[in-house]
Amino acid sequence: MPPRPYVIDQLISAKSIAARIEALAREIEAEFAGTDKLVVVGLLRGSFVFIADLVREIDLPVEVDFIEASSYGDSTVSSREVRILKDLRAAIEGQDVLLVEDIVDTGHTLHHVTRFLASRRPRRLRTIALLDKPSRREVDFRADWIGFSIPDEFVVGYGIDYAQRNRNLPYIGKVRFTDEDG
Ligand code: PRP
Repeated sequence: MPPRPYVIDQLISAKSIAARIEALAREIEAEFAGTDKLVVVGLLRGSFVFIADLVREIDLPVEVDFIEASSYGDSTVSSREVRILKDLRAAIEGQDVLLVEDIVDTGHTLHHVTRFLASRRPRRLRTIALLDKPSRREVDFRADWIGFSIPDEFVVGYGIDYAQRNRNLPYIGKVRFTDEDG
């Protein structure tokens, strides 16, 4: 159960997300034009909705794989250890790879996972995140493509959870707590 009562205000509509994904897909197609195979890697769990919509817009030969990194939950410690919990099925040496993430917050997760994937010597490794919270960054990390840059709001929906809830919302919403501490 989520620990506090809350309501969700829409921040980014499903229509805006779809339009942005179409534009991003055209840029990805241009970047990887001529590839014989693009391995699109979703970082579990939050990216599962975004990757599903994104791959259906990309007109290239695509293979889909997933990787999972440890969550550090509510920890506020800045020197975070990120561990790989589930590795890729595919060997990516010499391959074109696109790593897909739902949100970049402190940057620790993508910083670590991109270094992990780069150590396998892919031909090209690019990253895309639907959302970016630049004001929260603790390590210097910039995704190659960002869907939307957002302020430091508590967001849910379109794959993103609050205590494992709300991943199934078709839009990005902002959590507003309704108890007296809110
Ligand atoms: C969230 C999100 C990113 C990461 C971003 O994942 O999906 O992977 O945190 O944070 P960072 O930039 O501060 O590292 P979470 O650990 O909540 O797991 P989930 O994807 O399973 O929801």
